[in-house]
Amino acid sequence: MKILNFGSMNLDYTYHVEHFVQPGETLAAKEQKMAPGGKGLNQSVALAKAGAEVFHAGCIGIGGEALKTLLEENGVHTEYLHKVEELQGNAMIQVDSTGENCIILYGGSNRMISTEQIDETLEHFSAEDWLVLQNEVSNLEYMIEKASEKGMKVVLNPSPFEAFLEKLDYNNISWLLINEVEAHQLTGKTEADTVWNALHEKYPKLCLIMTMGVKGSYCFTPQEAIYQKVFPVETVDTTAAGDTFTGYFLQGMTNGLPLKECMEQAAKASAICVSREGAAIAIPMRTEVENFKF
Ligand code: RIB
Repeated sequence: MKILNFGSMNLDYTYHVEHFVQPGETLAAKEQKMAPGGKGLNQSVALAKAGAEVFHAGCIGIGGEALKTLLEENGVHTEYLHKVEELQGNAMIQVDSTGENCIILYGGSNRMISTEQIDETLEHFSAEDWLVLQNEVSNLEYMIEKASEKGMKVVLNPSPFEAFLEKLDYNNISWLLINEVEAHQLTGKTEADTVWNALHEKYPKLCLIMTMGVKGSYCFTPQEAIYQKVFPVETVDTTAAGDTFTGYFLQGMTNGLPLKECMEQAAKASAICVSREGAAIAIPMRTEVENFKF
């Protein structure tokens, strides 16, 4: 079994501010940092730190070489990365005094993934393998369609949410990972059980993870429902908390760990992540997750 993440890689320009900038306001940042990020890259790093073997595919653009190095330093396979003559994808992130963030994305190189690259990459994978996706890359629907044709199991984090995601055939998705906002955008519902009922009725084989910030998270499968509380920490920066959760959950789930334990390790890893600054650099190692005292 192999895990392929066809995912975004961003240079994150993070600005620490007292509050999010308002329309018409010019706001001085208290601190500014540039660090590796992108939902795809963060998830691959989290998977690898958790102990999974993961292949990251996508496009490295102008200025993005350090992102490839970071993946390799974390043990992620990078042979399916292509180089493109386009600016590296990047994100402008505001982090306020409570650790909350808001993000503006520029797709850049992440939007240069072609159907040819997808076909070539998928040739190296088969029915026992997993494909992990987020909505920060080009040709997402094509990836889902081709991977499903091969019998690969697809995991989708439909973030950032766009209207076309409402029309996807979720029968081709094994696991959907969403937060409360995306859950509402997708189903029009807010409570976890009503979100699950709406999805389960339409897509009976789909499994769901719904994260709800400090309110914890739910895991729903056709057989069981598991609630996971949040482990309390001092919040410094919530960036990549969801990606960390995704990586640690998937590592456990693809290795046959009971779902309750997958949820617990994901929640612990995610708590450590929010107690630190940054995206990929804030993701903890497995030993830190195992030893952390909450
Ligand atoms: O999920 C966090 C990530 O979202 C950041 O690293 C940023 O690059 C955006 O993709």
